[in-house]
Amino acid sequence: METKVLPITTESLAEARAIIRDGGLVAFPTETVYGLGADARNAAAVAGIFAAKGRPADNPLIVHICDKAQVEEYAYLTPLAEKLIEAYWPGPITLVLKKRDCIPDIVSAGLDSVGLRLPGSAAAREFLAAVGCPIAAPSANTSGRPSPTAAAHVAEDMAGKVPLILDGGAVEIGLESTVVDARGEYPLVLRPGGITAEMLRELCGGLLTKPQLPTQKPLAPGMKYTHYAPKGEVLLFATAAEGAALLSAHAEAQPLLIASAEMAAELGYADSFIPGKRGDLDAYARSIFAALRLADSQSRSVILVETVPEEGLGAAIMNRLKKSAGVL
Ligand code: TXA
Ligand code: MG
Repeated sequence: METKVLPITTESLAEARAIIRDGGLVAFPTETVYGLGADARNAAAVAGIFAAKGRPADNPLIVHICDKAQVEEYAYLTPLAEKLIEAYWPGPITLVLKKRDCIPDIVSAGLDSVGLRLPGSAAAREFLAAVGCPIAAPSANTSGRPSPTAAAHVAEDMAGKVPLILDGGAVEIGLESTVVDARGEYPLVLRPGGITAEMLRELCGGLLTKPQLPTQKPLAPGMKYTHYAPKGEVLLFATAAEGAALLSAHAEAQPLLIASAEMAAELGYADSFIPGKRGDLDAYARSIFAALRLADSQSRSVILVETVPEEGLGAAIMNRLKKSAGVL
């Protein structure tokens, strides 16, 4: 199959609409990462997503909508969900709610819940409005690989497998949405993201650490799989002393160093990818997946990555880094 990569225009959106209507797949940008979309009401179309990604069938998909009012068509609202929608939609947070029957089982991987998201970026909402249906979409990477934050990353994984990639440039956030179970009295964070646990606690006056009501298990099936893994080995370090020890132990492998400007300077190692200054977590989030993909394109067998404190957005960054290193 030929894969077109097109900027977002009236014409390309019309093409996207026709592909989705006919049960095909379209990759599209959101503020978090690129998604691989199909009509969420069409089980055969959704099966195409699992095939293109090589995704395990027990990992449910997020359903993307472009209007808050659509929530009740697909799920049962709760007071907590209403509060979160009011505060954060459109934006990088997915709400897990009890699903209605119109969502096919393949979308929810057989669970009785569905993850709903109203993306924050104008490009994503233009796409959703143009296709005129709910869009089931995981990140547009091959299962297990780092998520795509640019159209070129999608093409690396999906060329020949999907007819259209809408190119909206680099994404704003770079990490996938926060996934929250909103069925209880307080939020239960299933996947950390840009809307942080601290923000949720502040808004809602509490956080759950385990489900309030008996629910089906596992809660976020996707979290148990290997994720975000480049081909090389990812090794994490916190201090300059640890970094120096790793650099000398792996000198022969010529590792790529991913570190703050300060750390790279301290280590005196030029072969580095520098997301930004120390503490610039937004910059780190935006470029970490691109950095891991760069390491792959350079065939690095070892990738050394400076860690960040696990607070706020740092918790989401470290969740992805630990998974890419195979230590979570
Ligand atoms: O930012 C994002 O969320 C991106 C963009 C494209 O919207 N999407 C994304 O989808 O990251 P995906 O499939 O790569 O990750 C979705 C995560 C998985 O860990 C999945 O198991 C979990 O959300 N999830 C989806 N539906 C769920 C449900 N009903 N219950 C629990 N977890 C769910
Ligand atoms: Mg994903």
